[in-house]
Parts: sequence; C-alpha cells; structure tokens
Amino acid sequence: MNAVVRPVRRLAGTISVPGDKSVSHRAALLAALADGVTDVHGFLEGEDCLGTLRAIAALGAEVTRKAPGHFVIQGVGLEGLSEPADVVDCGNSGTTARLLLGVLAGQPFATMLTGDESLRRRPMDRVMEPLGRMGVRVIGRKDGGRLPLAVRGMRPLHPIRHLSPVASAQVKSAVLLAGLWASGPVSVVEPARSRDHTERMLAAFGGDVETEGETVTVVPGRRLTGRLCRVPGDISSAAFFLVAGAVAPEGSLTVRGVGVNPTRTGALDVLEAMGARVGLASREGNGEPVADLTVGAGRLAGTEVGGALVPRGIDEFPILAVAAACAEGPTVVRDAAELRVKESDRIKALASELAKMGVDVEERPDGFRVAGRSPRPGAPFRGARVSSWGDHRLAMALVIAGLLADGPTIVEGVDCIATSYPDFVSTCCALAGPDAVELVA
Ligand code: S3P
Repeated sequence: MNAVVRPVRRLAGTISVPGDKSVSHRAALLAALADGVTDVHGFLEGEDCLGTLRAIAALGAEVTRKAPGHFVIQGVGLEGLSEPADVVDCGNSGTTARLLLGVLAGQPFATMLTGDESLRRRPMDRVMEPLGRMGVRVIGRKDGGRLPLAVRGMRPLHPIRHLSPVASAQVKSAVLLAGLWASGPVSVVEPARSRDHTERMLAAFGGDVETEGETVTVVPGRRLTGRLCRVPGDISSAAFFLVAGAVAPEGSLTVRGVGVNPTRTGALDVLEAMGARVGLASREGNGEPVADLTVGAGRLAGTEVGGALVPRGIDEFPILAVAAACAEGPTVVRDAAELRVKESDRIKALASELAKMGVDVEERPDGFRVAGRSPRPGAPFRGARVSSWGDHRLAMALVIAGLLADGPTIVEGVDCIATSYPDFVSTCCALAGPDAVELVA
C-alpha cells in the first residue's frame, strides 16, 4: 500500500495516541510469568505487541481480549511456561525476539524463534553473548547471531554482571528477565541509561530490582503477582505529531495521556533545544509518569544531539530529521550508530529518502548532518515519490514531511505502519483535514 500525501498549512486539534509499545510488550511478558490474573488497559494492538501476546499464548498463558486495548492475561507463574508446539514468529519486532530470549533462557525446554526479513537481519548476539555466560545454549544462523534460532534454557542460570557495550533496553531487559531464574543477583551496567520500563514494571509485579546510576540488579527469589496495568500513550507515536505541530505554518495541537518517563523524553529535549515550545500538563499515572503535551507552530533552529540524550530518544530520529530539515541552520546527530541496526539502517534510509524531497542530508558513520532550510520563505520539502524501506517509523516521518511539502508526495510501502500505529493515517486526517493522506493499493 502507498500513501498519497497532500500539503497542508494548518494542523490543529486534540488527539490521543495508542498505548506505549515498550510498556505493552513488558505487560504481556510479566503477566505471563506472574501468579494470578493481570488486567491490561491501553495495550497497543499493533502487529509487534500482538506478536508478543501470541508468543505468551504459545508458551501456555491464557490471553482474553475484552475490548479494544483491554486484555486479561492468566499467568502461569515463574515455573509454569510450557514448550511451544511450533516455531514462534516474532514478526518485525526486535523487542519480542530479544526479551523473549531472556525469558526462554530460564525455561528447561527448547524453543525456536524466527522473524520477518528485517528482523532476520538484526543482531541477536548482543543478547546471546551474556545469556551464554549465564549457561544457555542458543544456536542461530550467521555464526549464531541471526534469527531463526533455537534456544534451550536451563535452571538455575549463573549470576553475571554484564557490562553492555551498547545502551539498549532490549539487551538490559533480556538479561534482567533471565535473572529471575538465576542462582544469585544479575546486574547490567550500561554506557548510558536506556528506557527503564522493565525495572519499573518488575518492581510493580513484586520483583526485587535495584538501580544505582547506570547499574540495574535483579535479585531472584521473589514471585511475581498479577495486577492492573494501565499503559500510557506512546511518546514515540506522539513525537510525529509534536514535530508536525511545531513545524506546520499554522495551528496548535495537544496529545493527551502520553508517557513521559524521563528515559523516553529525549525528543522533547531536542525540540526544546530547537526553540519549540512544548507545554506539559502532568496527569495521574500508574507506575509511569503521564502528561498532556501541547505544541504550537513556531520557528525552529538547528541543534547538536549526542551522548546520553541519544538512547532517550533513539526511536525518534526519523521524525527529528524532519524537524531538522524545517529548522534554520544545521543539525548534527552523533553517537547514534545504533540507528543502523533498527528496523532499517535508519541513517542510510533517511539520507536517501529525504534527499529525494530536496533535503541536504550528509550520512555519517554514527549519525547525520541536516543542513536546514534556507531563511527564504517556501516549503521545506519537495513533493516526491519516496520509499518506507519497510520501516514503520521512516514511513510515518515521510508522511509528515509530505504534509509540509510544496506538492503531493507518494510514500511507498506504508503497510508497515501497522506494526506500531495502526490508526496513524486517520489521526493525520483528523488534524490536517480529511484529504491530507489517502491510502492507495
Ligand atoms: C525498545 C528498545 C529500543 C527501541 C525499541 C524498543 C524496548 O531498542 O529502539 O523500539 O522496548 O526495549 P534497543 O534496545 O535496541 O535500543
């Protein structure tokens, strides 16, 4: 499917975005491992998280859908998972594959995991290496580091202190989850803090987790108990509209009920550094801070992004590159080589597709430089035919760029948007007008 995007001058309205992808995955996994029932509200019904629900069902948890986003999960307890009868397909989802590997490490049976073409290219050795030191056998393709792979878990696992070379919440979470079946404390030390949803949720389910600086430790021995989980709106989905609202010539918009965990708000800091005014009204949360976010049209200036800020906004670089193209003066992103191993090589993909829209982007090994718009009036993008590279976040960023272009834009291959934000196109139309984005076969 392709999206035909027509330029608009004004974006205005109040929206809410679907549930947080990272929190939804973790709610499903911990619910399966808990004793008793977990009631999840606001679960993201995108392909990635539905894949995690299918995986826990294949491992023996009972999943019932009560209403849109409302699931009741009957956990089986820490010793209750059973061997799946077939290969578990993780689809496009790195989080499903890597967090599940951590869980499977502690199961005394064999499981096979696979994924789509994109996921089968992504590195799994970053998780397999520490799990191997905990005693687990994983056999995969390409020297063992790629899906499909087979894992044969064991109990108890050896306690380790893992010095992770990358700031990755998926690596951290996989090792911490495996720690639930270890014979002693398991620690992960990161070069910079990644999102901490696993730590927060494990503690809420009754687990013993401690954080000290960049070190997180799980002490095994406690059982997990099912509970009520309310998933906040996904800031990574909200970011598309916050940028759109900040760079559109006119209007202002509000996104209600967004998770604003400080390990996820890097994009807000970048937007503020660029001169955008993002208003934040805090709301009652449930283990995760939540706020309504408001942004209005304004002028942005280029900025520099690097260091510890990068993992706090790692999924937002496609849309931040769109913001950078609308800003006056250059924006430089460094320390972001991880972007090369996401759903696509996002540095290469952004440089290639934004160039088609007339943006001056220089690809760098660990990031990119966007020259920024000229001070002369005119649209920041040229209408063009561009490709999503099968990457949901690239697809959505290009649709937003299309809304700000000087003529129609066609974004090829937008089916992938369903992995994280099935209602994205209708929300675009709610803010920009019914004809702004049209899906064509
Ligand atoms: C995620 C962690 C990040 C992020 C991904 C979701 C998670 O990946 O890019 O979309 O839920 O733990 P890495 O751990 O590879 O940085």
